[in-house]
Amino acid sequence: MTGLYSCVWPLLSRLDPETAHGLAIFALKRGLVPSARRIDEHRLRQTLWGMDFSNPVGLAAGFDKNAEVVQAMLGQGFGFVEAGTVTPKPQTGNPKPRLFRLTGDGAVINRMGFNGAGQDVFHRNLAGVKTRPGPVGVNLGKNAASVDAAADYTAGVRALAGLADYLVINVSSPNTPGLRALQSRDQLSELLDAVRAALRAVAPSNPPPLLLKVAPDLTDDDKRDIAEVALEQKLDGLIATNTTIDRPAGLTDANRIEKGGLSGRPLFDASTKVLADFYRLTDGRLPLIGVGGIASGADAYAKIRAGASLVQIYTALVFEGPGLVRRINTELADLLAGGGFAHINEAIGADHR
Ligand SMILES: Cc1cc2nc3c(=O)[nH]c(=O)nc-3n(C[C@H](O)[C@H](O)[C@H](O)COP(=O)(O)O)c2cc1C
Repeated sequence: MTGLYSCVWPLLSRLDPETAHGLAIFALKRGLVPSARRIDEHRLRQTLWGMDFSNPVGLAAGFDKNAEVVQAMLGQGFGFVEAGTVTPKPQTGNPKPRLFRLTGDGAVINRMGFNGAGQDVFHRNLAGVKTRPGPVGVNLGKNAASVDAAADYTAGVRALAGLADYLVINVSSPNTPGLRALQSRDQLSELLDAVRAALRAVAPSNPPPLLLKVAPDLTDDDKRDIAEVALEQKLDGLIATNTTIDRPAGLTDANRIEKGGLSGRPLFDASTKVLADFYRLTDGRLPLIGVGGIASGADAYAKIRAGASLVQIYTALVFEGPGLVRRINTELADLLAGGGFAHINEAIGADHR
């Protein structure tokens, strides 16, 4: 923990986590959080999908569900920011409390349930972003009460493709009943057919890259099916992974009994394994975004060696504050140099060679 955050954390950590998050969004929106110096390191700079990523560390979905602080978070030094999950209609999500810190475990459990203001407000917020020093992804979901998942995702595509540097089909959050079943082969193929058709209609010449975000709790058969569908459907990338419904041995915090998705340090091994599996199953042909339990440059380096072109963080940010972004990048640049890699490109998937 560094700088201002080490002064603010004693206050934030005493607040209920959702109140603390609301306060962080408020402060970021009002410009009360000083921006950070962007890292300028040639080793970390990449062009992916024709876009420039000044560094590989992104903000994971769920922090900025309504695209309220995209610019402020890019100002914290992130190489890219993913806003959402956004649903077509506003919805309140699950009853509170629904967000729990497991401080000693470096983890969080959430069962938010896609609370958000809906795609009209999201659109207005994102359209108001004046400058984008890095790419902005839009993570799409479905309303809990909707019976037609494809209709919701295609509504999201139609409303938001024009503002998205990349789009994510999120079928992996554990807190919307039935959502993760969309990862099964037939349902996924059908859903992606519908999404592709909507994307072709709304952006025929220059569609944003289309990515799929997957769960860590997949069987080997699930992973093989998803990888095959991803290649068949010419997806532009995969994001591995979302939170887990598993409760790995070794959790110590009393909150470990709460229902929902677990994120942070205890997710690292499982999500990195799933990432490595997808790299292997897709022969390294698809760019992968590695997310789950990253809290240091060494963690990011491990994800990259396992196959990630980019990484994302959320939970460690809660405990460490935004200074973590620069620390991860600095440590990562040193680790790449120490590993004999002149550029991040050379390290992607290195563990498989
Ligand atoms: C409070 C909270 C809310 C989240 N909401 C979303 C969401 O709306 N959509 C999504 O795709 N992932 C969501 N996630 C999952 C994160 O994007 C990420 O995949 C996961 O937390 C693993 O990364 P981490 O260990 O760095 O937190 C959420 C995570 C947390 C902790």
